[in-house]
Amino acid sequence: MARTQQQIDDLKRKIAQIQSWYHRIDLGDDIETPGHFRMADYLKYYNFPERMDGMRVLDVGASTGFFAYEFERRGAAEVVAVELPSWEAHDWTPRYRAELAAKSDQEKKTVDREVMFDGFTVVGEGYRSTRTKRIWKAIYDLRAAELGTFDLVFSGAMLMHVRDPILGIQRMRECCKPSGRLIVSISTTMMDSPDPVARFVGEWNQCNWWQMSPAALDSILNCCDFTHIDHRDRYTLQDVTGQFHDPTYVCHAFPRQE
Ligand SMILES: C[S@@+](CC[C@H](N)C(=O)[O-])C[C@H]1O[C@@H](n2cnc3c(N)ncnc32)[C@H](O)[C@@H]1O
Repeated sequence: MARTQQQIDDLKRKIAQIQSWYHRIDLGDDIETPGHFRMADYLKYYNFPERMDGMRVLDVGASTGFFAYEFERRGAAEVVAVELPSWEAHDWTPRYRAELAAKSDQEKKTVDREVMFDGFTVVGEGYRSTRTKRIWKAIYDLRAAELGTFDLVFSGAMLMHVRDPILGIQRMRECCKPSGRLIVSISTTMMDSPDPVARFVGEWNQCNWWQMSPAALDSILNCCDFTHIDHRDRYTLQDVTGQFHDPTYVCHAFPRQE
């Protein structure tokens, strides 16, 4: 349905009110979110099914929602987008957490709203989304008893941010149907290492913990009952300025067939 000029102006105003955008998303009518990463340019590396009709999809670490709404656009019956309930809920170091604790409630609320909440909501309004909902959870708290199981579980560029990526993968396995799949991407500078190595890359004021070689991710997936790995691909993610380069590994992992 075409937008009226009033609707176009409202959408542009809402987008402009948000300071921090992760995804650059084309919403039509010359409206684009001013994010850092235009993930539409990298879709081919993910090998998503062209059509997702009837599928339940879980998008873990959805940020401003590019992938979640792309799954809906491809026909998914239901998309559950998982995001942390606040900036403070990241796996921060004790020292950074102490700095955050010293901020006023007002400052914390503003960061949560602008970085964690509003972008995803505005993109959903822009798309007139009806089948995507967001829930607030850490990856560790994804439980099949509560959420059910999914045909596709997706985790894009987020396992580097969790202190315990193995527990995260176990939780995603629990939420994956036996006939389903996990599609996962990680950023890694160890693209060519045949060894299953993980390197600690933590710094006190960052939320990056582990770099894994593709062989390490494959081995962890195997260990966590994803016994078949397929559609391995790699690309270099660049931001819209072209200055940021992140070598990225993507694969599809399938649960052991009973
Ligand atoms: C680098 S962004 C990736 C966004 C999107 N998945 C993509 O591939 O473009 C990582 C996202 O994961 C979320 N995240 C980080 N740690 C998380 C955790 N422990 N549980 C759930 N989400 C988390 C962050 O808030 C952020 O939105």
